[in-house]
Amino acid sequence: MTGTVDTGSPVATLLEPVTVAGMPLRSRIVMAPMTRNRAPGGVPTPEAADYYRRRAEQGIGLVVTEGVLVDHPSAGHEDTVPRLTPGPAEAGWRRVVEAVHAVGGRIAAQLWHLGSLREPVDGRPAWTPSGVAEPGRPAGRAMTLADADELLAAYTTAARAAGRVGFDAVEIHAAHGYLLDEFLWPYTNRRTDRYGGSPARRAAFRPRSCARCARSSRRTAR
Ligand SMILES: Cc1cc2nc3c(=O)[nH]c(=O)nc-3n(C[C@H](O)[C@H](O)[C@H](O)COP(=O)(O)O)c2cc1C
Repeated sequence: MTGTVDTGSPVATLLEPVTVAGMPLRSRIVMAPMTRNRAPGGVPTPEAADYYRRRAEQGIGLVVTEGVLVDHPSAGHEDTVPRLTPGPAEAGWRRVVEAVHAVGGRIAAQLWHLGSLREPVDGRPAWTPSGVAEPGRPAGRAMTLADADELLAAYTTAARAAGRVGFDAVEIHAAHGYLLDEFLWPYTNRRTDRYGGSPARRAAFRPRSCARCARSSRRTAR
């Protein structure tokens, strides 16, 4: 980082290198994902590459991108949130990844599905675990098992795209009341199939193959 830190200071440890899941990081500082709404048509611009490069060159060990929508109509509604689809969006992310790598940083793509927070802009209801949302939100429609398979495939496709682009890892967004978080809670997850019931079953809706995708991403990144 710029500036000096007293080597005796407790925060000095944050600046030491660390290896996480086989991925060497030059510091223990991870930049939190922050949505920017600056990707017209879902495509990260050259400005995004500069934005992430500036953060990485200050010594952040791992940059986590803003939420990137998985490629499914139910995932999100905003046109300025980035995607990771073949073509311009992948090319835009490749530019971002190369910019971060060029200054010695590492970068993970955060994969995102809004669940009940996806607005029904096209008249289609949001996809939710059980057709129940937090008070004040539209309930959405309860996902079938076939829907669940479709979405898990969309996560896998996104993670593979992240590998092609050269990301060092993916992070699965499973917080803040979005879809995967809605699966975790008994209020929003009232399913009686393999994705409902005990805490373990509520947590079973997750993209399992992503660890493999992330490993292949790391292999191709350097
Ligand atoms: C402008 C803004 C955008 C955010 N976008 C995302 C996001 O895309 N994905 C995510 O997981 N968290 C997002 N967050 C939450 C942050 O990553 C972080 O978890 C939150 O600010 C709390 O961090 P703290 O506990 O270090 O204060 C966002 C936060 C802010 C302020």
